[in-house]
Amino acid sequence: MGTALSLHVPSVREQPVGQLFNTITNGVRKMPAYGSQISVEDRWAILLYVRTLQRSRNATLDDVPPEFRDQFALRQQDSNAPRRTDARG
Ligand code: HEM
Repeated sequence: MGTALSLHVPSVREQPVGQLFNTITNGVRKMPAYGSQISVEDRWAILLYVRTLQRSRNATLDDVPPEFRDQFALRQQDSNAPRRTDARG
């Protein structure tokens, strides 16, 4: 089996959701079809999740509701504070 593309590459991000639905349903090139194993409703649910992951990976401050942007900026400054170096949190 070939290597599946990252869902974050532009060629997948920019696809209409109907094309992604077709990919799950009927497969594409080396990807098998899942239409007979995943219900229509679940296929759409998977695509909503894929779209959420794609969008969150590319989020900017403009995606944050205006009333929360100040808080977000503060948290970003906090993250520049010195950090613990051990990994045990
Ligand atoms: C059900 C959730 C899945 C979604 C939403 C999904 C979505 C996609 C998308 C969008 C692509 C890129 C297609 C394109 O280039 O236009 C792709 C490719 C691929 N997927 Fe999936 N996939 C799913 C499940 C799977 C599973 C379970 C497998 C493996 C058993 C798989 C194997 C592959 C492979 C091998 C490719 C590369 C196909 C090729 O270019 O030859 N996918 N998938």
